[in-house]
Amino acid sequence: MNAVDIINKKRRGEALSAEEIKFMVMGFTDGVIPDYQMSALLMAICLKGMTKEETVVLTGIMRDSGETVDLSDIRGIKVDKHSTGGVGDKTTLIVAPVAAACGVPIAKMSGRGLGFTGGTVDKMESIPGFVTSMERERFIESVNEKGIAVIGQTGHIAPADKKMYALRDVTGTTESIALITSSIMSKKLAAGADAIVLDVKCGSGAFMKTYEDARELATWMVDIGESSGKNMTAVISSMEQPLGKAVGNAMEVREAIDVLKGGGPDDIREISLRLAAEMVLLGGRADSREAAEGMALEALESGRALEKFREFVANQGGDERITEEEDLLPQAAFAVEVRADEAGFVTGLDAMKIGLASQHAGAGREKKEDEIDMAAGILLERKTGDEAAAGDLLCTVFGNDKTRVQAGAKEAREAYRIGPERPEKPELIKEIID
Ligand code: URA
Repeated sequence: MNAVDIINKKRRGEALSAEEIKFMVMGFTDGVIPDYQMSALLMAICLKGMTKEETVVLTGIMRDSGETVDLSDIRGIKVDKHSTGGVGDKTTLIVAPVAAACGVPIAKMSGRGLGFTGGTVDKMESIPGFVTSMERERFIESVNEKGIAVIGQTGHIAPADKKMYALRDVTGTTESIALITSSIMSKKLAAGADAIVLDVKCGSGAFMKTYEDARELATWMVDIGESSGKNMTAVISSMEQPLGKAVGNAMEVREAIDVLKGGGPDDIREISLRLAAEMVLLGGRADSREAAEGMALEALESGRALEKFREFVANQGGDERITEEEDLLPQAAFAVEVRADEAGFVTGLDAMKIGLASQHAGAGREKKEDEIDMAAGILLERKTGDEAAAGDLLCTVFGNDKTRVQAGAKEAREAYRIGPERPEKPELIKEIID
């Protein structure tokens, strides 16, 4: 087999055989196929696409390129949850304890932030003492005893994806349904859960800008998961504006605690309860969607989910007093307020621009090795549909580096669109595919 023939075949729009896909992916992972040939193939895939059959094969090869986690020692149906990435998306911090409080075993691996989107592992590490790595035995034992453990994804999971993702990032080849599906699903399948709830985002702050593209991605991921024997549900939700009011690691932990205490912004509460209910349903803890919704709501409102969160934090070395004493979480030394210079309604709040402003204020990494400022972030006082008089507060940008906070505040101002007419309230949950 030869790489140039395979690249040419895909360039002509033909389907590749399993052997050809394996030759390229494993050759590249092992360092035999050079970057320039893999880049050419990735671009041909972006332009000509892959069939679902090719994508199933690609996903399997990427999954098997590294370690696959065996969760069979954990009792019950293990349900994982994955978000395709967004701004202010702290749902895992809420959904995982809610589902665990309903009896769904949560054995989850999460990722770090990528570019303007935050990652659960970074958020959890803003809790003093919290550790996101654990030996396999202790991970299994934690889930069996406490019902929940969330750790960082190890480098041994799907190394082919790790290498291909880095190449896609710098060759303009991220936006392909087949490549995104195989990238996400290879990692999820290797992580060992029996069922997976996907939160597929669409809008300005998401990979998929339109509902139609998000729907296609969701359908592909559900099909590919099911063809590997997993029970799957995908929720398509809007990422036109950030979720909740808080963007930034410690700030998002504070907001997650507010929701677990029965408060918090409506949107984050709504999507968290929806995702938790879908996990309860897939986990076999309820026999209808309505019953699952009732269970998730009860776990939240009774305080059992908050108690589960405390147990989870303490079990991973974190200071569980953060739920009562917020000052124990990292505090920012500087705050810059962003105010409206004209009266009107917020007609749009660009999620990607807010994500970038928060990253530049210190909450995210520019490069993988960068340190992040756990206290940095943005508190959104006004969101789409809210009214503001001239001089009213739109948002506040926080952080420990004054220059960066000022730069973030300037960018945050540019994320707001103010107009004379009140816009329609954006719809958050668009569809459930199962
Ligand atoms: N997240 C991933 O892990 N991979 C992609 O390709 C896109 C989002």
